[in-house]
Amino acid sequence: MAFTLVTVASGARSLRSLEHGETFHPVVGPMIEAHGLHVAQSRLVERAQEMSGPFVIWDVGLGAAANAVAVLDAFRGVAARVELHSFDCTLEPLVFAREHAAELNYLMPWLPQLDALLSSGTAEAGSVRWYFHQGDFREIPTAPAPHAILYDPYSPAANPGLWTLQHFTRLRKVLTEPCTLTNYSRSTAVRVTLALAGFFVGRGSATGEKDQTTIAATHRELLVAPLDAAWLGRVRRSTRGAALRESVGPGPISEEDFRALSGGILFQ
Ligand SMILES: C[S@@+](CC[C@H](N)C(=O)[O-])C[C@H]1O[C@@H](n2cnc3c(N)ncnc32)[C@H](O)[C@@H]1O
Repeated sequence: MAFTLVTVASGARSLRSLEHGETFHPVVGPMIEAHGLHVAQSRLVERAQEMSGPFVIWDVGLGAAANAVAVLDAFRGVAARVELHSFDCTLEPLVFAREHAAELNYLMPWLPQLDALLSSGTAEAGSVRWYFHQGDFREIPTAPAPHAILYDPYSPAANPGLWTLQHFTRLRKVLTEPCTLTNYSRSTAVRVTLALAGFFVGRGSATGEKDQTTIAATHRELLVAPLDAAWLGRVRRSTRGAALRESVGPGPISEEDFRALSGGILFQ
C-alpha cells in the first residue's frame, strides 16, 4: 500500500506517502493548513468577489483533496464564479482518502462532489466548478490562466522536477492574469528559484512548526511582505542559496545568479 493514515500533532488525521516518506499537512493537519496557508493568505474569497468573470484556482497536487476541500468550504454560500482546476499524476491518494473519509473527517460534507470528480473528472459545489486534470504538472497544462495557485507537491528533495528554475520559468510564462502562488516551503533556494523565474516573492504566513512560508506573485501589490535587501544579504552568505536546477546539487548562489537576482524585478 502506498499510503497510510497518521495522526499529526494537532490530533487531526492525515495521509502519509510511504513511497516519498512525507506526511500531507503535518503538525496542524489538513484543514488548518489548507485554510491558513492557501485560502486565507491568498484572499481567495475577497479577490473572487471583486471579479466579474470566473476566478480561476489551480490546485497543484490534488492528493487527498484537503486544499481543494478548503476552497469548497470557503466558497459555500458565496456568490462568486469560481473554477477550481486540480492537477495530479495519480488519483491513488484521493481513492485512499475516499476509503478513509470517515476517519479523515474533512471530506464528509463533500462526498457527492468527490464521487463525481472521481467518476467523471468534474463536479459542482454551489458556485464552484471543479475539474480534475490527470498528468505530469511538469508539462504545464492548458487550463484557463489562474488567479491563484495552491502549490503543494512533495518537497524539493522528494519531488525535484516540480521545483526547478526551468519549471517555474515555464509556469510563470503562462500566468497572464494577476496571480498568487502559495507554498509551505521557507527555503532560501526555493525563494531564489521563484525570483529568478520572474516572480515577486514574499514571506508567507506561519504554519505548524514553520514561523514563515513562501508566497509568490505576478504583481508586487499581491504581496504583504515582499522579500527585502536584508534577505538578499542572507542569500549571499547562505551555503544553500543556489537556484534549483536539474542535476545541480545544493550550494551557495553563483555570482551570475546573484547579479540576476539583485537586478531582477524583486529588487527594482
Ligand atoms: C503532498 S501531496 C498533495 C496534498 C494535497 N494538496 C492535499 O491537500 O491533500 C503531493 C501530490 O503531488 C502529486 N504529484 C507529485 N508529482 C507530480 C507531478 N509531476 N505532476 C502532478 N502531480 C504530482 C502527488 O501525486 C501527490 O498527490
